[in-house]
Amino acid sequence: MIEVEDLAKRYPNGVEAVQGVDFVVEPGEVFGLLGPNGAGKSTTIGMLTTTVTPTRGTARLAGHDVVQAPLAARSVSSVVFQEPVVDGALSGRRNLELHARLWSGSRTHVDTSAKALGVHDLLERPVATLSGGQRRRLEIARALVSQPRVLFLDEPTVGLDPRIRHELLDVIAGLRDRGELTVLLTTHYLDEAERLCDRIAIMHLGRIVALGTPAELRAELGAEIVEIRVDGDGHRALARLREHGIAGDDSFVVGSTLTVRLPGGGATAAIAAVDALELGALSVGARQPTLDDVYLRLTGGRLAEAA
Ligand SMILES: Nc1ncnc2c1ncn2[C@@H]1O[C@H](COP(=O)(O)OP(=O)(O)OP(=O)(O)O)[C@@H](O)[C@H]1O
Ligand SMILES: [Mg+2]
Repeated sequence: MIEVEDLAKRYPNGVEAVQGVDFVVEPGEVFGLLGPNGAGKSTTIGMLTTTVTPTRGTARLAGHDVVQAPLAARSVSSVVFQEPVVDGALSGRRNLELHARLWSGSRTHVDTSAKALGVHDLLERPVATLSGGQRRRLEIARALVSQPRVLFLDEPTVGLDPRIRHELLDVIAGLRDRGELTVLLTTHYLDEAERLCDRIAIMHLGRIVALGTPAELRAELGAEIVEIRVDGDGHRALARLREHGIAGDDSFVVGSTLTVRLPGGGATAAIAAVDALELGALSVGARQPTLDDVYLRLTGGRLAEAA
C-alpha cells in the first residue's frame, strides 16, 4: 500500500533531512516511524503526503506515485499533521464538512467518523473551545471523513493527558483491527509503538537504522542484558568491560548507565565479573531487553518517558 524507494530530501538550506530510505507497508498494516527530534520523520510523511517534494527516489500510495500523480495519491490518503490544522473559529462539523467536500467524502461520513472518534457530541461547538485531546480526536475524525485507504499520523498523542492518550490509542487500535486501513504513524513513545505497530522503522539522521516487528528488534539484543549504573563516567567503565571481554559491541552508555549485551557466559557470570573489576558500580541487574534499549543503542538518545 505504501512503497518507498531511495526517498531523499535535501532542503534549500542544505539540510539532508532524509537520505535515501526504503520500505514497504502492506495493506492493513500499522507501521511506526521512530527516531529522535530531527531524524526526518515529518519530512518523510511530508513527501508521502505530497506537501514536500522529494529530491530523489520514489514513493507510491496504492500504486499512485506521489510526484507523478499527486492528486491520485492524495485521494487515497489522509494525514494528521504534527501541528493542528483545524480552523478554531469554525465548528467541528463545519471543519469536517469542508474536508469532506474537498475530498469527496459524504455528509454521512462526517457523522460516522465523529462517532467513531467519540466527538459527535462536540461537533456543533467552535473548535477553539475544545480541549487539546478533543481537538486531536476531531482532527483524526476529519482525516477519516474522506475514507482514506492510508492514514498518516504524525505524533498523534503528543500533549495529551494519560487517560486521553490511552483512549486515543484504543481508537487507533480499533481502526487497525477493522483491517481496512493502512496506518503510518510517528511517535516518541516506545510503549505506544509496541502496542500499535505491526512493524517499526527506527530513523536516525535521515536514515532507517533498523526495521522489523517489535519482537524482531528486541531479539537483536539477545535474550538478556545487564544494566550497570556506575558512579561517574560510563564510557570509561564500558571500555574496561570491553577490554575484559565482558561487554559486546552492541553495548551502549547513556550518562552513567551502561547497558551490556552479554557475549556469552550468562548474566550471573557477567555480574560476578563486573564485581571483580571494581568499577564502582552502584547497581547491577539483568533483565530482558526492551524496545527502549534497541532505540538507545541505535540512536544514542533517550526517548521521552511515556506518561
Ligand atoms: N522546511 C524546512 N527547511 C529546512 N530544514 C528543515 C525543514 N523542515 C525540517 N528541516 C530539517 O530537517 C531535519 C528533519 O526534520 P523533521 O521535521 O523531518 O524531523 P522529525 O524526525 O519529524 O523530528 P521531530 O521528532 O522533532 O518532529 C531537521 O534537521 C530539520 O531542522
Ligand atoms: Mg516531526
